[in-house]
Amino acid sequence: MSNIITDLTENIDNIVKAVLSQPTKEAEYTKITVKPVMIKGSLRFQLERFRDNKVYHLNLQKEQFIPWFEENADLKYKQILITEKERSVHYHLKGINYGKKVSENKTKKEVPLSHNREKAYILKEGENIPALVELGVFTSDFRIVKAKYDKYKQINRFIELVDDEFSKFDKKDITILDFGCGKSYLTFILYYYFAVKRGMNTKIIGYDLKKDVVENCNKIAEKYGYDNLKFVVSDVTKDNLYNEKIDMIVTLHACDTATDYALNYAIGKGAKHIFSVPCCQHEVNKQIKKGGDMDILLKYGIIKERVSALLTDSIRATVLEAMGYTVDVIEFIDFEHSPKNIMLRAKKTKKINRKLLSTPQELCDKYSFKQTLLELVKESGEDV
Ligand SMILES: C[S@@+](CC[C@H](N)C(=O)[O-])C[C@H]1O[C@@H](n2cnc3c(N)ncnc32)[C@H](O)[C@@H]1O
Repeated sequence: MSNIITDLTENIDNIVKAVLSQPTKEAEYTKITVKPVMIKGSLRFQLERFRDNKVYHLNLQKEQFIPWFEENADLKYKQILITEKERSVHYHLKGINYGKKVSENKTKKEVPLSHNREKAYILKEGENIPALVELGVFTSDFRIVKAKYDKYKQINRFIELVDDEFSKFDKKDITILDFGCGKSYLTFILYYYFAVKRGMNTKIIGYDLKKDVVENCNKIAEKYGYDNLKFVVSDVTKDNLYNEKIDMIVTLHACDTATDYALNYAIGKGAKHIFSVPCCQHEVNKQIKKGGDMDILLKYGIIKERVSALLTDSIRATVLEAMGYTVDVIEFIDFEHSPKNIMLRAKKTKKINRKLLSTPQELCDKYSFKQTLLELVKESGEDV
């Protein structure tokens, strides 16, 4: 038994997450992740064990966890990362013990007890969702196709966040536009969630540049009788789009500035809800120049790229605030499932306050770049 067991026993109530990787020959799985969850009022540890492109789930009661760990994990994984509420402990196997490095978490983590399996997986494996089979996310017996596991996690998380907002929504109708819908995993699932699960009159239009992809999506929608789910070939940066009342706009990894056009469209149409997960963001990175206190962040390519992406999303969030939205910037999904993992969740709640545009504008001026959403919003109103 190694030193990690004593640590786990002492800190079991603080564990937020554990990731076991780099298996030794004795390990049965290539990787294991562990999360505490509440199921029917009692604490369980939910394990995802990865092997041969499959994921095996196991729920353990709290008192079963340490014995399980001793038998199945201790000294069998070379790297173990335990995230606790206030610190993270990185264990590295050295002979018959683990070396450990402790670092304080910059922000205090919450033990995600409310994230039980029922809630985290609104679209359950095994649930009869034919469109997901058609799109290759589920097998014909509604099991997750391993190669599509990350996509499944993403759309589930997206729906979970949508559900948080709409579980108390009592309207009967909803109209949604999806910008850069691609193969439309999310679009189909949104339709399924609102039209089938919630029984609402749901109209969704997905826009994408790719004709063949759009045609295929329309065929699938027809095949399943999803009458008000349509896909249209469009360039969202310049084409005329649906012009009636819109309740919600979604984007999931719409490329570069397509996200800005979507946000601008939402603002212009007064859409109440926005759920936007931006994608690659080249615009600012290509233009930004040194200009002041932040110059050190622009010196190294990879840091510059990340800073530019974060700047872009900070500006987008501020512009949305200025245009009357309350904005949450949330981690959409664990980094391991997608590095493009920030979601801007916005709800129209207040009056426009264009004065708020001056802070991002000053930043743009100082560092010599333009940001599309800010420019579009400026065009649509008086100067900043
Ligand atoms: C990374 S894919 C994401 C697809 C889908 N939302 C998903 O998450 O699976 C981005 C999609 O945006 C589309 N796209 C990029 N620029 C666009 C534009 N200006 N107008 C419409 N679609 C666009 C691309 O064709 C591509 O299918």
